[in-house]
Formats: sequence, C-alpha cells, structure tokens
Amino acid sequence: MNKLVQMVYISRANIPKTSQSDEIGPEISKILRKSRTNNRAKNIVGALYFGNGYFFQCLEGEESVLMSLYETLKKDVRHKDLKIISLKPVSSRSFGNWEMKYLPAEQDVQKLLRSFGMSNFDPYQFDDTKTEKMLNFLLTGSDLDLKEKTEEACSCTAWKLTALALAILLSAEIAWRFLIG
Ligand SMILES: Cc1cc2nc3c(=O)[nH]c(=O)nc-3n(C[C@H](O)[C@H](O)[C@H](O)COP(=O)(O)O)c2cc1C
Repeated sequence: MNKLVQMVYISRANIPKTSQSDEIGPEISKILRKSRTNNRAKNIVGALYFGNGYFFQCLEGEESVLMSLYETLKKDVRHKDLKIISLKPVSSRSFGNWEMKYLPAEQDVQKLLRSFGMSNFDPYQFDDTKTEKMLNFLLTGSDLDLKEKTEEACSCTAWKLTALALAILLSAEIAWRFLIG
C-alpha cells in the first residue's frame, strides 16, 4: 500500500484581486469547486488559505497521488513559485473529510502574524514552527462554506424579486385608480 503523507506548499497567486480581502473571488470559487470534486475521487483531503496574494495549501493523501497532483498544480497559471515547505508521513488524515477546507479568516491570521512579529502574511518567511502554527490555524478555523454563501445569495435574490414584484403591483394599482378615478 502507498504511504500516507501530508504536504504543505506555498505559492504566489496570479489571480485578479477582489474588492474586499475577505471575499471569495470567482477564481478561488472555481479552484475550490474543482479541488473538492477531484480530491474526493482521489481520497485527498486538505485546506487552502489565501491571503495577501499568497496561497498556503495543505494536502493529505497517498504519496504518489499527491506528487502527481503537485505536478498538475505546478502547471496551473493561477499561481507561481510553488515551494513545498513541509512533507511528512502521517498515520491518518487530520483534515478528516474535508476535500478542501477554505479559510479566508483574515482577522485570525492577523492575530497569528502579530504573535510571529510579522505585519503581513508572507509564508515564504515562515520557518517550521510558524508553518506548524499556521497548519494548526487551518485545522481549527472554520470554513467559509461555498454552499451557504450560494444559498445566502439565492435567498437575497428571491427577496429582491419579491420586493420588485410588490412595487410593480403597487404602481399598477395606483395607475389604475388614477385612470378610473
Ligand atoms: C491554489 C490552487 C490550489 C489547487 N488545489 C487543487 C486541489 O487540491 N485539487 C485539485 O484537483 N486541483 C487543485 N487545483 C487546480 C489544479 O491546478 C488543476 O487546475 C486541476 O486539478 C485540473 O483538474 P482537471 O484535470 O479535472 O481539469 C488548484 C489550483 C490552485 C491555483
């Protein structure tokens, strides 16, 4: 049987900036959707953090499967300068059934960075201890659920449509009264 490993790599993002730093842009959404489907099929779990123009991703799975994914990742033009900062055998997958957990929690990372004596997120400056602490943050932090976000957006659109329909009805009623009266 293939060895189970945990890999952490970092990269510089090459995607358009979103207006708000905590907002999931369309590129990140696409990456997450693709990762979640592919990783499920390959029995890979992990987490992704995006901040200050950098990606920090932890992946856990069978060594050969992860290495082949890493080759694919290196060819992805949405990021560059990929660097593996930790690679070790593990006895089990710590990210459980997260095909790809996503953490945009800027605030919490700022706290962590302050404890490192850093003002901006730059994982290329991380040593082993900082990497370990960042990993712990990924494990314990809560995911920004894409499904929830989509549902929120849908219910918001439904409210807007209802309000519009009511406004049209009201205008029609006023126009009707004006015409007959
Ligand atoms: C930061 C980043 C993280 C990614 N993480 C994953 C991942 O965990 N799993 C995955 O399959 N693809 C991931 N991708 C996408 C891959 O680079 C690639 O586009 C995808 O695996 C191609 O899948 P396909 O052959 O099914 O089209 C990631 C891309 C980026 C930029």
